[in-house]
Amino acid sequence: MNACVRAVVRAAVYHGIEVYGIMRGYSGMIKGEFVRMDSASVSNTVQRGGTILKSARSQKFTTKEGRQQAFDQLVNHGIEGLVAIGGNGTFTGASIFEHEFGIPTVGAPGTIDNDLYGTDYTIGYDTAVNTALEAIDKIRDTADSHDRCFFVEVMGRDSGYIAIPCAIGGGAEIVMVPETAMSVDAVIDTLQNSYSRHKTSFIVIVAEGEEEGNVHKVARRVKEALPQLDTRVTIVGHIQRGGSPTAADRLLASQLGIAAVEGLMNGMKNVMAGIVDRKLMYTPFQDTIYKRKVINQSFMRMVEILSV
Ligand code: F6P
Repeated sequence: MNACVRAVVRAAVYHGIEVYGIMRGYSGMIKGEFVRMDSASVSNTVQRGGTILKSARSQKFTTKEGRQQAFDQLVNHGIEGLVAIGGNGTFTGASIFEHEFGIPTVGAPGTIDNDLYGTDYTIGYDTAVNTALEAIDKIRDTADSHDRCFFVEVMGRDSGYIAIPCAIGGGAEIVMVPETAMSVDAVIDTLQNSYSRHKTSFIVIVAEGEEEGNVHKVARRVKEALPQLDTRVTIVGHIQRGGSPTAADRLLASQLGIAAVEGLMNGMKNVMAGIVDRKLMYTPFQDTIYKRKVINQSFMRMVEILSV
């Protein structure tokens, strides 16, 4: 997110536009937590994880009264347009706000989950996948040395976008994602087959939103059916949301931050800047909110093929 904030600030400065950072998103907008920013405000931030502007969920912005207060704060500071980095909740709020008060917003997709329609990749996703993959590589050392079966939970809320590249890149036997139905019985069958082919260690990636139940439940049922397996559970957790961003994420964030500012300058509103098939696209918030980005099922097949 810092790389995106930096790009927004620098693009504004480049085009001679006054720019403020709003601390803690809509919550800070309501309270008037605005910080005048210039080029130096974002020096030495491109390589830092998290966000210098901080992040918060705002219940109050879901009320008309809260949005009125936010609008009053913007007017007091002479702010005419917004760049919002976030996901569905952020863009829903921005659409309602524009409808009520006429303040235009252009969005940039900021979520590690990569589940936003209108962009092939979201800001933070590549870093999260690489972090999880690094963890899985390390887990594999124990799995291999001790002949164990590891169930590894990765983040992604209701989506399997993080889980799939982790499974392919981490050499997992199985991946369970919310978008594709896979019963625990099918997992047991696959592991049983691998075991009878003299495989001795196994990695099963379970997306946190998996509908068959959480990673502990899946591991417990497998252990009951295959007591010969020495099973362990690892939850990769919040390390996936931090750390220095990858080159791909810095590039994407920089590109979309500039695109958001230039979109606003060109009179755009209620759209999200994204990259689709390597091209910059602006997608209406309504589509990013209501259209579903579909998982490429051939990736699921790849996991199956690569784990023979
Ligand atoms: O949406 C991003 C995400 O990291 C999800 O992958 C995860 O489910 C959730 O946020 C974690 O949120 P929190 O930090 O509030 O527990």
